[in-house]
Amino acid sequence: MAADPHPETVIGVVATSGTTNAGIVDDLEGLGSYANQRELWFHVDGAYGGAALFSPTHRDLLAGIRHADSFVVDPHKWLLAPLDCAALIYRNPTVARKILAQQASYLDILHTEDDELYEWNPSDFAIHLSRRARGLPFWFSLVTNGTTNYETAIQSAIDLAQRTVALIESMDHVEMVRPSSLSIVLFRRKGWDAERYTQWSQQLLRDQVAFVTPTKWEGETVARLAFLHPDTPDEMVHQILESMRD
Ligand SMILES: Cc1ncc(COP(=O)(O)O)c(C=O)c1O
Repeated sequence: MAADPHPETVIGVVATSGTTNAGIVDDLEGLGSYANQRELWFHVDGAYGGAALFSPTHRDLLAGIRHADSFVVDPHKWLLAPLDCAALIYRNPTVARKILAQQASYLDILHTEDDELYEWNPSDFAIHLSRRARGLPFWFSLVTNGTTNYETAIQSAIDLAQRTVALIESMDHVEMVRPSSLSIVLFRRKGWDAERYTQWSQQLLRDQVAFVTPTKWEGETVARLAFLHPDTPDEMVHQILESMRD
């Protein structure tokens, strides 16, 4: 296949596996093969949606991740770990180290001595030097919950999003804006303007029912539900939707 011309300054392609606003998963297969064929770095941002790899019904959506040179997922978002914890995974960490390793004479020994003692220095793989042991809470969470519970938790949020769609479709004062993606549901309250959405969101927070913020979709203010907690009850969703009636 003839290579598409691209500027020499282009070094990589970044795809999102679960956009923050709407949960949309980019065409990872298409973008990943494009990048691989042209020897461009392929990074997948799964900060929120990468966790869907645990979902039996949705993990296939992310199958194109097999092309990734690097992949990030935030366990503090949807993988039951406390703030702040981002997991960055490289296909070939040696390449990352070449670019990201910090240079300083007191660190030289880490990079010049060919000793297994220095093989794994975390500050060589990201741009900051000092860091907390961010992986530890995630490790505790994994050990405590086990991957089977992760699977159940992720799937329950996705299933709740789908039941929410059905509920919205059964009500006459609200309607879907676009199909739900992963665990995010964008919907509109018929007849509301931006100000009304703000009042509603603030009231829900004041009443300590839920923290649900309005967002924008193609310029229009709409409502957004993002499900992450595995025990969010259907009754709460019902209450939120009912609170939008006049
Ligand atoms: C797709 C995506 N990328 C990046 C971020 C930012 O992540 P962080 O807050 O860990 O920097 C988010 C946060 O919502 C996200 O959903």
